[in-house]
Parts: sequence; C-alpha cells; structure tokens
Amino acid sequence: MCQMQNPCRALRGWGIMRQISSELNRCLLSYRGREPIDLEIARAQHQTFRELLEDLGLEITIIPELDNHPDCCFVEDTAVLLGSNTAVICSMGNPARRGEEQAVAALLEKRGLHLVRMAGDARADGGDVLIINNEVFVGLSNRTNAEGFKVIAAAAEPEGIEAHAVRIRGALHLKSVVTRLGKSSVLGLKRHIGEGLGFLERYDWLTPPAGEEAAANAVTLGDTVVVSSTNRELARLIERRGFKVASVDISELQKAEAGLTCLAILKSES
Ligand code: GLY
Repeated sequence: MCQMQNPCRALRGWGIMRQISSELNRCLLSYRGREPIDLEIARAQHQTFRELLEDLGLEITIIPELDNHPDCCFVEDTAVLLGSNTAVICSMGNPARRGEEQAVAALLEKRGLHLVRMAGDARADGGDVLIINNEVFVGLSNRTNAEGFKVIAAAAEPEGIEAHAVRIRGALHLKSVVTRLGKSSVLGLKRHIGEGLGFLERYDWLTPPAGEEAAANAVTLGDTVVVSSTNRELARLIERRGFKVASVDISELQKAEAGLTCLAILKSES
C-alpha cells in the first residue's frame, strides 16, 4: 500500500489509467538499457498507485490493455487536458505508440470534453506537456515537435492558458525532468532544459538530491505530492515546504522509462 498516514479523499476529480501490457518487456527505451520487468510486480505497483489516487478522492477508470502496444499503460502520452473543457488528442512521436489514443479519446468525449486532434506532421507526447496554473510548457523533444506545440498552443488559448516551448536535452520527456510542485514551484533538473528555460525560471525550483534525480517526476494533487518511494531525502525536502508526501514504489515500471505522471491522465479541482 501507499506510504501515507491519512489519505483523506479530499479531492474531487477523475482519472484514466490503462492496464499494463503483457508485452511490457518489449517497451520502447531511449535512455535506459533493457532489464527484465517482472509483470506481476509491475501490476501490483500500478494497482497501488491507482489505490492511492482513489484514496485521495479521484474516480479512476481503467482501460484494458491494447494488443501490440507494450507501452500502452503510459496513458499520459495520449492526450493533454487543457482548462475546463478541452482535450488535445496526441499524435504520439513514436509511430509504435499511435493507436493508443483512440480508447482515451472515446472516454474523454463521453465526459463531454471538446476534442482537438493532431493532424499532418504535428507530433506530441503528453509527457512533454507541463501545466502550471494558466501556463502550459511544451517540451520540444524526440517525441514532440514544433507543429505539435502549435496545436497545443492554439487549443490552450481559448482556455486562457499561455503556451511556451522549451527545448529538452538528454531526457525522454519534459516531465521526466521537471514537474509541478504546488502552484508556485517546480521540482526538477535545469540541466536538461535548453532554450525556453527562462519561462520556467520564474518558478521556485526544488532540485532533487544527487541519486534521486528520477524523483523529478512527481504528481501534486492538492496539498499532497506523490513521489516514488526510493526518494527519501527528497520527500523530507518536500515536506519542509508544507506538503504531505505519499510514496509509491514504481521501480519495476521505471525499467520501462516510466515516471508516476506517465501512468494516468488526471483531472482534479486543485
Ligand atoms: N517507454 C515509454 C516510451 O518510450 O514511450
């Protein structure tokens, strides 16, 4: 189970997750060497994260796995929620992943969201899209291109959200190296961000201690920050900033280059 004293169901909102593929051992890898993934442990870790989100008050819908899509549980990459009413359905950067977005789009449509679909050469993975307050930062990476940024920026504008492009180096996604920490700070590693860093420098940065860099990928929900459980020193630093910390072990999923954010599309009030 999650390591938190009093998960309080204080949040209102919902999320989408997807079952882990039986073929996860054939996942895409960009920056890690391949290691065997124990599917049973990976599924248990995924379930623990789901239970934590539910304990916090979110209603989670689980989509079945998709054949021939080993990375399908990384549902975050398929769509980007913007403001109260809009979802951009991504044309993901790696062709092997395209198709995963269809079941997600159907669910988002059922929820009444206005869907904006990428066409032509536009490419983006949701992992490259970081939303803080009324700003959206889009990482230009091996998965997300300038055309993808333009689609997201155009969809964000009517929602009153200003878009900024930031160049990523040496990391899979923007959110592999920087995530939101509450409303006025970010958790991350500046060294992975090139052009556009200035837009993010307006936020107060907390840098994960050496050896805990993977923890730059965390999920803030209300006053709770969910981190991967190996990051004890970072957890202490986050608590000192007034947040509650919940820890989930996703070590088996990290072998597939996953972070916590990859595992869910979340819509919550705070
Ligand atoms: N293994 C996750 C991805 O490359 O999309």
